[in-house]
Amino acid sequence: MQKQFSLFLSTTLILSLSLIRPNQAKIRIVIGSVTDSTDTTTNTCQPSGYISSRKPGSCTAQNNDSCCKDGQSYPKYQCSPPVTAKTDAIMYINTFSDAPSSCEPKIYNDDELVVSLSTGWYDKGTRCLKSINITTNGNSVLAKVVDQCDSINGCTAEVGYEKPCGANEIRASRGVWSKLYMVNDQMGTLEVTWSDVSSS
Ligand SMILES: *[C@@H]1O[C@H](CO)[C@@H](O)[C@H](O)[C@H]1NC(C)=O
Ligand SMILES: *[C@@H]1O[C@H](CO)[C@@H](O)[C@H](O)[C@H]1NC(C)=O
Repeated sequence: MQKQFSLFLSTTLILSLSLIRPNQAKIRIVIGSVTDSTDTTTNTCQPSGYISSRKPGSCTAQNNDSCCKDGQSYPKYQCSPPVTAKTDAIMYINTFSDAPSSCEPKIYNDDELVVSLSTGWYDKGTRCLKSINITTNGNSVLAKVVDQCDSINGCTAEVGYEKPCGANEIRASRGVWSKLYMVNDQMGTLEVTWSDVSSS
């Protein structure tokens, strides 16, 4: 009787262990992926608020995707994720030839290797006219920071009803895209990494 009971006990133990194990593995995976995403945005850089877009006027963006849409809400960011030797960013195509940039009131030709950075990375202009090294698919290009990609203001007439920039964006000229061996129909949105280039 006792033997049977202990056999029953150990069987249930093994059974329940084997039931728990896969669950634990699942939980670990979930925690792992949550940690991954908090590393880049959630933990280190939270939205400072949201802009709700109401009946936006005529949008000046070249790319429709950058226009505010009626009834949509957009996060705004004062911060950007920390800059490392391999900072993850989303790169978008941008023109610098239609308005003066904010580092110096200058119009750039789109063949020039220039970019704008999200507000946190622009860092009140401390990266102005400095080079950053942008890498994707094993190719790299050095580009000059000439403008801010505004992560705080958006969806107003002053900014042409464009939505605010994300926390981790680079807007790059055609020249930059070309140096990364991107041809016309590939110039749009791309995941890249970047780093500061020391001026020494
Ligand atoms: C994008 O632009 C086209 C042409 O200018 C316009 O007809 C369309 O409504 C726009 N789409 C959005 C989502 O704004
Ligand atoms: C740019 O980054 C790439 C990839 O990390 C590296 O191989 C290259 O040497 C860097 N270029 C400069 C000028 O720092």
